[in-house]
Amino acid sequence: MKFFLDTAITSELRQGVATGLVDGVTTNPTLIVQSGRKLDDVVREITEIVDGPISVETLSTDAEGMYTEGKKFATMHKNIVVKCPLTEAGLTATKRLSKEGIRVNVTLCFSANQALLAAKAGAAYISPFVGRLDDNGQDGMQLIRDIVQIYKNYSFKTEVLAASLRHPIHIHQCALAGAHVGTFPFKVFQQLFKHPLTDIGLEKFLSDWKKAQG
Ligand code: E4P
Repeated sequence: MKFFLDTAITSELRQGVATGLVDGVTTNPTLIVQSGRKLDDVVREITEIVDGPISVETLSTDAEGMYTEGKKFATMHKNIVVKCPLTEAGLTATKRLSKEGIRVNVTLCFSANQALLAAKAGAAYISPFVGRLDDNGQDGMQLIRDIVQIYKNYSFKTEVLAASLRHPIHIHQCALAGAHVGTFPFKVFQQLFKHPLTDIGLEKFLSDWKKAQG
């Protein structure tokens, strides 16, 4: 399972990437705004930090506009993946961009049928939003299981990029479900390392060692 960080804050990205365990980055318009920086500036810096897929979202609502933006993003760096929303226009742009060899991450997916459409459009990634479905009183993780199964049934190449993951249990369940990628905030990435018994055990090993040295 690949780990992407869902952030446009380059300081935390640098910290995550230093572990060697971060495979890529996802951004969205909200995250870019939260960084307080211009899209081009922050994306260029991210390309210098991470050697892996970097999703950058289009802002147009029509297919032609998304296609044009996608083409522009793709010229910024070889690792850029164009993010298009799961709308009719978004999938029309996805089909066009994919045909030209530009990788697309179809975002804002909330149903298995939407995921099926994205795969047929040639998306490199589908992003089902687990946390937002949970927020809406639905079982977000069941959607991941369903999409993984459907893609297996038809040997689609599209990777399931489980998004809107909010806590370590989400990562655990995505790994069990066979999601290819999980994207989550840096804070959640840090939580994955932690277990109180690891801390207690380490403290005891080190204090026993110290005592034995006299
Ligand atoms: C993914 O690509 C999205 O940027 C993200 O995972 C959304 O997460 P949220 O629902 O916690 O905002």
